[in-house]
Amino acid sequence: MLDSVTWLDVSLAALAVFLPSLPLPPGPNRMPLLGNLLDMPSDKPWLTFADWGKKFGDISSAVVLGQHIIVLNAVKPAIDMLDKKSAVYSDRPVLPMGGELVGWKNTLVLLPYGDRFREYRKNFHRVIGTRANLEKYHQVEEVETHRFLQRVLAKPSDLSAQVRKTAGSIILRISHGYEVKETEDPFVQLADRAVAQFSASTATGAFMVDVMPALKHVPDWFPGAGFKVKAKEWSATLEEMVAMPYRFVKDQMAAGIAPPSFTSNLLDAKSLSAEEEHVIKWSAASLYSGGADTTVSAIYSLYLAMQLYPEVQRKAQAEIDAVVGNDRLPTFADRESLPYVEALAKEVLRWNVVVPLAVPHRVTEDDVHEGYLIPKGSLIMPNIWYMLHDPRTYANPSEFDPSRFLKTEGKEPEVDPRTMCFGFGRRICPGLHLADASVFISCAMSLAVFNISKAVVNGVEVTPEVDPSSGTISHPKPFDCSIRPRSAKALALVQQEARY
Ligand code: HEM
Repeated sequence: MLDSVTWLDVSLAALAVFLPSLPLPPGPNRMPLLGNLLDMPSDKPWLTFADWGKKFGDISSAVVLGQHIIVLNAVKPAIDMLDKKSAVYSDRPVLPMGGELVGWKNTLVLLPYGDRFREYRKNFHRVIGTRANLEKYHQVEEVETHRFLQRVLAKPSDLSAQVRKTAGSIILRISHGYEVKETEDPFVQLADRAVAQFSASTATGAFMVDVMPALKHVPDWFPGAGFKVKAKEWSATLEEMVAMPYRFVKDQMAAGIAPPSFTSNLLDAKSLSAEEEHVIKWSAASLYSGGADTTVSAIYSLYLAMQLYPEVQRKAQAEIDAVVGNDRLPTFADRESLPYVEALAKEVLRWNVVVPLAVPHRVTEDDVHEGYLIPKGSLIMPNIWYMLHDPRTYANPSEFDPSRFLKTEGKEPEVDPRTMCFGFGRRICPGLHLADASVFISCAMSLAVFNISKAVVNGVEVTPEVDPSSGTISHPKPFDCSIRPRSAKALALVQQEARY
């Protein structure tokens, strides 16, 4: 079967033909296995890459099956290459199965660099591109996060599912003005199915066509071409995920009842060409596929950190009590008066690195960088994990310590992680203000009302392991914890109605 030969096997065979890339600084003698090019097979490749950095310097390289990979272990080369020379450092790798055959290359994250890419980015920028634009959606963040508190209170053991549901609710409300149902929701179910198929279609070792792209031309009836049938089925799910919420907005607009959203904002009062319609539909869907899983990881890690660092939790709660009091929940209006909670939100983004290796940037022209040839087609991987754990930048990097971001006498704050955790150049995360807002409000509201502590099993406290998953988006290892209202007043606040 063509589609059952694993990419991993092929890549291991490629170890034998590994050659350091001659024009570049000497490459390490171990190399990444490319798989889907967004995923790496070795557990936590960012740790291996960090070792390369220590041995070979901030820029190192490898060649796999003729593919040049350049790993950047510091912010400076990432900015010098991906930002300052963004005209040639902004393409994405081609993924034959997930990208081409299933169609994920139509979403922003895999969209080739070019005119369409610029149109999608323009749309993102217009709607959620600045902190000021985002103010329109503060109410969505506050109402949905309040509903999150209610769900957690009702079923604390389901924390992870509640975090996921809330991220989906916020994104669908912003992207399409859609209010998610409390029970099984058809939009969320469809989107979750499509996102799971994205993982399957881009998974390391899954499809031979990723190694031999010419296979995509074999006819469907050809023995072993089962991957083409699968691709068609997955492509239909993806198309429906894009079309269903779009139809919902159009119907609501026709009835004059559409709430403001990314899609309604862009559709407003225009007759559209097929290309314009494609761009609006797919950029709206890109919000979901780019945003749903990422903030999930960040907010889940808040609950992990709080049980491991009770002192930090107590300090944040004391600040909230002093500034906000106990008669209402915190809002975005309190943000500037809550410097410790703000620092805590930054530390959440630094300590648990959500996208440890960003998404590879592909180089579209030969470039000479600091005397080294970076050949056209090279993939650049910024090791964001290491940048955020580099002891040259952060003291005791594995400690969760928000005070590192506060200015005190004789000590400057450490570097704001938001200058790195969202990537670089023209591919920088376009959802960064939304992500930042979600993380802040989740920290402030959760700590205002809950005490988060270690789970107790048979009278013994269980200390959770800090062991993030590998993959493009990294999640904390699932954990149990105890989540209790801080007081009767806190309980009453959570139970108040949360509505628009
Ligand atoms: C804590 C939350 C988040 C983190 C840490 C994060 C981080 C990142 C990173 C590192 C990249 C790759 C940048 C590069 O290639 O240099 C990226 C891309 C992207 N992110 Fe985010 N992200 C987050 C939340 C979001 C949200 C909420 C949205 C949507 C509203 C979003 C949408 C996207 C999209 C569409 C891309 C692809 C951009 C492109 O290829 O041009 N992200 N993100």
